[in-house]
Amino acid sequence: MKGTVALVTGASGGIGVATARRLASLGAAVALVARRRDRLDELVATIAADGGTALAVQADVANRNEAVSAVERTVASFGRLDTVVNNAGEKGLLYVTHAALLPVVRAAADSPRRVADLVNIGPTIAFSDAIRRQLVGQNVRVSVVGCGSPDDVAAAVLRLVSREPNGANPSDERPQRAAAPR
Ligand SMILES: NC(=O)c1ccc[n+]([C@@H]2O[C@H](COP(=O)([O-])OP(=O)(O)OC[C@H]3O[C@@H](n4cnc5c(N)ncnc54)[C@H](OP(=O)(O)O)[C@@H]3O)[C@@H](O)[C@H]2O)c1
Repeated sequence: MKGTVALVTGASGGIGVATARRLASLGAAVALVARRRDRLDELVATIAADGGTALAVQADVANRNEAVSAVERTVASFGRLDTVVNNAGEKGLLYVTHAALLPVVRAAADSPRRVADLVNIGPTIAFSDAIRRQLVGQNVRVSVVGCGSPDDVAAAVLRLVSREPNGANPSDERPQRAAAPR
């Protein structure tokens, strides 16, 4: 995933930390979003020590303005946004996804892999399906991962986002669902 940029919400807690570390280990630059700044700073240092790139973005994603700013700051810092992992609650899911739509569609159009990903953690099938319909033809895959242990969820997310695109319009597919094995 070298050259790509990911944003992970809830990156101060179990699932978000594990997912951000795995994305960074595959070469993505990762924006870490949550409210607890000290936790984010610790994770930036851990990822840097492992040879990766990360940015702490302190935000309450239940606040629309802060969610929009978090996405804007990510794009301003890293230049693009290819992968969004929504892991921080319902309101954050709505606000972050809407703020990310334009940059993610742009990333899918200009990335060498010609694909971008929105991954929603937890019971978000109806919302994910509505977003998928909105994105038909834009090469943005929309996936849902069920909850489980942080490592299992992180592994499921990585399997989804590192797939090679297998068709002209991946967003024409139903949302991929990956149950994290327990
Ligand atoms: N693990 C499970 O079995 C399970 C089961 C059902 C649902 N889920 C859902 O899966 C997600 C992650 O689970 P987890 O086990 O990793 O939970 P967790 O350890 O409690 O992490 C939740 C993360 O979301 C962040 N967060 C919460 N509200 C936020 C807000 N308004 N703005 C920004 N960040 C916010 C928290 O960070 P800050 O407090 O620093 O902001 C934290 O990093 C949660 O949404 C949880 O509801 C998990």
